[in-house]
Formats: sequence, C-alpha cells, structure tokens
Amino acid sequence: MAEILLHINGVDHHLHASEDEMLLYILRERLNLTGTKYGCGEGQCGACTVLVDGRPIRSCHTRAASVAAKKITTIEGLSDNGQLHRVQQAFLDEEAFQCAYCTPGMIISAVGLLAGNAKPTREEIVRGMNGNICRCGTYSRILAAIQRAAGESSMSFDDEVLQQSPESVQRSFLLNRRELLKLVGAGLLVCAVDSRGQESGARASGNGADRTTHDIASWIHINSQNSVTIFTGKTEMGQNIRTSLA
Ligand code: FES
Repeated sequence: MAEILLHINGVDHHLHASEDEMLLYILRERLNLTGTKYGCGEGQCGACTVLVDGRPIRSCHTRAASVAAKKITTIEGLSDNGQLHRVQQAFLDEEAFQCAYCTPGMIISAVGLLAGNAKPTREEIVRGMNGNICRCGTYSRILAAIQRAAGESSMSFDDEVLQQSPESVQRSFLLNRRELLKLVGAGLLVCAVDSRGQESGARASGNGADRTTHDIASWIHINSQNSVTIFTGKTEMGQNIRTSLA
C-alpha cells in the first residue's frame, strides 16, 4: 500500500492504494463515483471511460497509481454550476440512449474526441467512438448528438428522419411519440408499438394492408418527480377488464 493523490473533478483525494488497484475500483467502490460504469472489465467496451488530462482512458485497465496527481474527470465532473456540458445536453436533446448504461462512457469519450478535434467529420466521429459499445444500438442518435455538440447539425435526428421518409412507419411512430410527449411532459417514455392492428386497439385503415406498426399501443412514462403513468391501450367502461389491464 502506498499513499497516492488522486485529483478527481477538482477535488484532491489522498488514498492508500495497492500498486495494482485499478482506477475504476477506486472511483466506484471507495469514492462512490458510480457514474463510471463497469462493463467488460477488459478494456473492450468503453463503459468505464474517464478523462485523464483531457484524454479518454479506460479506468478498468488503468492502475490508480499511474494517474496520481493527474487531472481526472468523470461524468460527475462535467457539468459546471449545475449547467450540463454541451455534450450532455446534446445527448439529452437527441435522446441518444435507451438503457443509458453506456452513456457516461460515451459522453466522456465524445468530450475527449471534441477536445482534440472541434469539428470532426462523420467518419472521424465514427472512428473516434469505435471503442465504445452501445448494447441498445442507438448509434445513429449518438452520432447526431456528437454532431450537434460540435455545432455541425441544427436538425435533430428525428427531424431528419421525418424529412427523409415522408411516408414511412417510422415517421408515423415519431409523430405519435412527439404528440405523446407534449401530453405527458418531459421524462422517460417507453412505448410499445402495435403491429397487430385492431386486435389490440390500434387504428386500422384502408383494406388492412396498411395495418402495421402505425400506432403507439401502450406506454410507460416516468417524470422527473418519479411519478409513473402507464397507458395500456385498453378501454375500461365498467366491464371490469382486469385481465386486459394486467
Ligand atoms: Fe472498461 Fe469495458 S469496463 S472497457
């Protein structure tokens, strides 16, 4: 055990650490900075990314002693006086996450990328973010968020899809979701799309050929006060539809 100084998010931490103690372990288990995630533990997924002197590194594979006295920034240290970092805001604006487990690592890597290249091309962003894996597959939105943070895109991912696909099912879904968000307000919204037509209450049109994935059938919304609203897509008019509601 040796005493080391870790300078994290502007705060000095004097700690005793063994020579092979990894930075990720100290961040999460000893300093309770749990925004940095444990993913693969092998330097392959990027979930544990933090900045050291402005450069993204994998904290699961970095010995704490090797970054002593350097400037370490985790996701908790990105905002300034309650103001989100522009990359954080862009991820929010583009809704660039689903489960969000990879998001802190993604955002930190993106901040590092933009620090080294303020105006990256699309290809440079793809290459720069290559080591960060998103299991939910929101790559298009992540790309759009980084472009937005770099000031390269004024149009949101949703607007781009709406413009490029005037007749698509995806357009219909996005418009429905937009209306729904106006109704329920900001928060986490998880929607199930109905692909079975009238059977489960969705609007069917025409001769039935058009009866696929046009409507949001049911959804769950969690607002910033943790109130949960659940919409089942079923209609209760006194007939006691307990089974359907469940
Ligand atoms: Fe460190 Fe996956 S947990 S790269």
